[in-house]
Amino acid sequence: MWQGRLGAIALILAAAIFALPLYAPTSDAARDNQVEVYSWWTGPGEEDGLRAMVADFEARNAGVRLVNAAVSGGAGSNAKAILASRLLANDPPDSYQRHAGLELADDVRSGKVQDITSLYEQQGWAKVFPQGLLDKITIEGKLYAVPVNIHRANLIWYNPKTLRALGIARPPSTWAEFLQQAGSIRAAGRTPLTVGPAWTQKHLLETVLLGELGPDGYEELWNGASAWTSPRALGALETFKKVLAQSDIASSAADWQPQMDRVVAGSAVYAVMGDWSYSYLTLTKKLVWQRDFDLAAAPGSGSSYDFLSDAFTLPTGARHPDLARKWLIECGSSAGQDLFNPRKGSIPARTDADEHLYAGYLAADLKQWRDPNTRIVGSLTHGVAADNAWSAEIDTALGLLVQDGDVGKFARTVAAKYRETR
Ligand code: GAL
Repeated sequence: MWQGRLGAIALILAAAIFALPLYAPTSDAARDNQVEVYSWWTGPGEEDGLRAMVADFEARNAGVRLVNAAVSGGAGSNAKAILASRLLANDPPDSYQRHAGLELADDVRSGKVQDITSLYEQQGWAKVFPQGLLDKITIEGKLYAVPVNIHRANLIWYNPKTLRALGIARPPSTWAEFLQQAGSIRAAGRTPLTVGPAWTQKHLLETVLLGELGPDGYEELWNGASAWTSPRALGALETFKKVLAQSDIASSAADWQPQMDRVVAGSAVYAVMGDWSYSYLTLTKKLVWQRDFDLAAAPGSGSSYDFLSDAFTLPTGARHPDLARKWLIECGSSAGQDLFNPRKGSIPARTDADEHLYAGYLAADLKQWRDPNTRIVGSLTHGVAADNAWSAEIDTALGLLVQDGDVGKFARTVAAKYRETR
């Protein structure tokens, strides 16, 4: 019996002796040199830019490994929910993606992210980002995120060959013109507009509201509740309903990339989507801008730039705050931004980036962003214009609007939820 027990103890000891040096210390050491970065950039058109920046980060920080904790799903449709549960469980990644604007402000108010003003001072960043953008990441004089890019949401995409085949001279410059075109497009057996999951319908909604109400009317929606039930806003919502009725919503695309595929294939004529599609179409699909696909400002919104900005944070309780700061330095650097943005289909958040790197449509995008006559407004779907609580209520109301078509009820609900969520 004793022999048996001694044998068992010896086995346990031997296992412990072998196990300790093999696993515990080395894995701890390795873990200490890892930085976990959370985003929703996986898959075609999303991850190329991130990969380029990660490679540069690892080259500049010898021995540090970036753990890419990206969760797929356009506009963070899955990533944001998983992140919320991690933050609730006090298990934050070392840095996570957030949109500049009210989406980030929520995290600041609930203490989820740390003040990184000292990093801004150390890096001299206050001088290299536009003031309007700094305002969207500053709360009570303190800075909370590092913006890596600028995206434009209000674009309509099409295949010039499809327009030619249908005898359509140009993409619509108003939503009324779109609805006129839609009749003949349907008669020719094609779908006028392709949509994807709920977030793409919300993206379409904000684009129609901007096109119909103009930038002032659009901004009034986010600055108070009253504008929603005005006759003009109700009219714009009616237009949205008509536009949606011309879409493939009954058999909608799985995400934004499949929406683009339908446009390229010609089964659908138009899609409304942000400039990230440019990277997908040119780099992933190897298509040629203005030959295989083209884009224009979404109907009625030519002089407006519906902007959003992806930014990275330093969460409260991050396990590797020093490495996270190094990642943020990469995100805010010219080198990082100029590696990331040409591949992401976005333009740099920094004002001093090398504009020669932005070719094709991205050159025009950069020009428009910097044009003093351009009117910049903030995106609803991508976190600028509405805080998370109200935005989630708009999601629910929009889901019902898509089902029952009751625009009056939608407007009243959205206005009431604005007041309730203050
Ligand atoms: C946005 C994000 C973009 C792009 C897009 C599609 O919310 O800011 O960078 O990833 O979603 O997923």
